[in-house]
Amino acid sequence: MEMDKVLDVQNLHAVFRINKKEYEVLHDISFSVRRNETVCIVGESGCGKSVTTLCVMGLLPKNGRVTSGSIRLDNTELTGLSQKAIRKFRGSKMGMIFQEPMTALNPLLTVGYQMRENLILHRGVDRKKANEMAVEYLTKVGIANPEQRLKQFPFQLSGGLRQRVLIAMVLSAQPDLLIADEPTTALDVTIQKQVLALLNHLKKEMNAGIMFITHDLGVVAEIADRIVVLYAGRKVEEGTVEQIFRNPLHPYTVGLINAVPDVEKEEFVIQPIPGMFPNITEEIPGCRFNPRCPHAAECALCSKEAPKMTEAEPGHFAACHLITAGGAQHD
Ligand SMILES: Nc1ncnc2c1ncn2[C@@H]1O[C@H](COP(=O)(O)OP(=O)(O)O)[C@@H](O)[C@H]1O
Ligand SMILES: [Mg+2]
Repeated sequence: MEMDKVLDVQNLHAVFRINKKEYEVLHDISFSVRRNETVCIVGESGCGKSVTTLCVMGLLPKNGRVTSGSIRLDNTELTGLSQKAIRKFRGSKMGMIFQEPMTALNPLLTVGYQMRENLILHRGVDRKKANEMAVEYLTKVGIANPEQRLKQFPFQLSGGLRQRVLIAMVLSAQPDLLIADEPTTALDVTIQKQVLALLNHLKKEMNAGIMFITHDLGVVAEIADRIVVLYAGRKVEEGTVEQIFRNPLHPYTVGLINAVPDVEKEEFVIQPIPGMFPNITEEIPGCRFNPRCPHAAECALCSKEAPKMTEAEPGHFAACHLITAGGAQHD
């Protein structure tokens, strides 16, 4: 594994058992996250973004399992580890922030208590030092009057402040990988922008990799270095943020980008991708996107054969028969 890769996911397959049958929810997912890099996993609701993070964290629900593939965190293979072994990595080598920080914060304990306990556990410092560090980390995430905040309970803070507290707490353990699953979705736009700016700033300072999950391409544009586009449990495209926005290759990615409202333009047009997103129990032969693809009629293979990932330009990959065939014309 390359030195600067903190997370390396290769050929990951996962299933859910529903009514005694197993259905594939992730099919052959590969991507990696390097230090000082934010990789955004994007796609519509239900495409498998959260399940991907659950696989990495070893927190799949009981009816789910990884059937094959590799997940390496700092050169340690995580698949096949016991729950006990993987728990050691959560909160230390990998930090997690979610849409609702209250799920991670204990409502009955003060911010200070929780931050100190976390520091004592993960940094091995004494209580006094932990208190100093808690103040320091709250200051790092732009919280004014940190001493005051430490005495408060999570419910006494606004949603934006709670998310900052959680970010401070997670970062204080010095994780190598930060996993953020829609962390700004519940916040209003101004606060969302502040939290994204904060993560961008902290990325450099903490020398970690960030795996950032969002369905919102507006957010992606603000935070991603690289983008992995998922559709119905498959990776359909990957590239740098510049490559994906300048030259989206997969018709699904094109659809996603067209569905972002352009606030700069007078007319606030959104063109959603027509058609229904498939359920994991649905069998779709060929390319999973073909029933919704505006170009599927141009190509006989789309409904028959799953397209392979091809590298269209250095570091820019897509799985679409039209690309393999020599270029789809997107407008
Ligand atoms: N415990 C479960 N049992 C069965 N299906 C599930 C379970 N959890 C999630 N799914 C299904 O897996 C798919 C991917 O879900 P998820 O990763 O949560 O999507 P998202 O991209 O919105 O985060 C969805 O079709 C969802 O309905
Ligand atoms: Mg999700």
